[in-house]
Amino acid sequence: MTNKYTRIIGTGSVLPDFVLTNDMLEKMVDTSDEWIVSRTGIKERRIELEREVSELGVIAAQRALECSGERAEDMDFVILSTVTPEFYTPSTANVIQGKLNIPNAFSFDVSAACSGFIYALDIADLYIKSGKAKKGLIVSCDMVSRITDYEDRTMSVLMGDAAGAVVVTGDTERGIQTSYIRAASNDNRYTELYANSGITKALFDKQSGEYLGRSAPNRDAMMHMNGRAIYEFIVKILPVIFEKCLGAIGKTSSDIDHMLIHQANKRIIDYLIEKYGLNTDRVPMNIERYGNTSSSTTPLLLDELNRNGKLKEGDLVALIAFGAGLTYGASILRW
Ligand code: ACO
Repeated sequence: MTNKYTRIIGTGSVLPDFVLTNDMLEKMVDTSDEWIVSRTGIKERRIELEREVSELGVIAAQRALECSGERAEDMDFVILSTVTPEFYTPSTANVIQGKLNIPNAFSFDVSAACSGFIYALDIADLYIKSGKAKKGLIVSCDMVSRITDYEDRTMSVLMGDAAGAVVVTGDTERGIQTSYIRAASNDNRYTELYANSGITKALFDKQSGEYLGRSAPNRDAMMHMNGRAIYEFIVKILPVIFEKCLGAIGKTSSDIDHMLIHQANKRIIDYLIEKYGLNTDRVPMNIERYGNTSSSTTPLLLDELNRNGKLKEGDLVALIAFGAGLTYGASILRW
């Protein structure tokens, strides 16, 4: 049996306790509270000092399950969006599945940086709509502090850790109306934002076959970004994908009740507010408190809105995100 829509029926999130303020960063790198707030809108961010990616992911997932009233063992899949997996293998989604004691599901990680939640939602939508899965968990946990160089002012002021999760199931009336995911591929833009895996190469002498050991550890395993180039690309592409989604369902920006834009920079969000003449009440922000939490941003914002009773049945919710790759995507849901 196929479902018409994929609906989010529960949300959950978790934040680390440790708060890294702009004042603290002023003492670590050559920056200022004034620069950070005026250029990004960020005042503080959370950093996880102890727990691993799967541990935060499990907490967010448990909260989403509790919110939905569903049992972990009834989930057909766990899809985790992360760029900071705990292991090269197994997938961290697989670890989360194990910790939640889900006996009969499939699980895998999605790597699409800050757009990862939208990518994961789009994939889950295909499984649910096809009838191949009835219910599932989508978890986003990016512990970006693990790949952030705290001696580099360009990245350290932006990033924070968090996890968010949703439970999805099929529905005949409400849920994902349309979505669109893409990645830039026509040039070398991926080099504008990257963190290498840190994997070293096996060295063999090609002639003799003698094993020579391993290459030096990769020095670029921390995140590097050309923020200005990304900014310029993103402000051009976001209206294109937003309008594509609106057009697909015959709506305009004024029909959107809540517009959740990736929390990378308040100036990018303000640009969209102004471009579409949006009421700021309809564009929630938490960038001031948490900074850019990569793909965790979207489910974190969604959970805040849900728990504050802001999402009413039938509301149209737009999700828009962009990140390393460069990846980008949007989704419009009927709540
Ligand atoms: N503190 C103080 N000064 C700084 C800092 C800092 N933390 N960082 C840079 N500067 C300086 C620069 O050196 C430069 O100095 P100069 O004029 O003397 O050369 C000046 O500030 C301006 O630098 P820009 O890079 O042009 O600053 P900009 O206004 O573009 O803001 C920012 C930088 C915040 C990174 C912005 O470009 C941005 O948000 N870009 C988009 C990032 C993004 O969305 N990435 C994708 C998502 S992230 C992910 O996927 C992991």
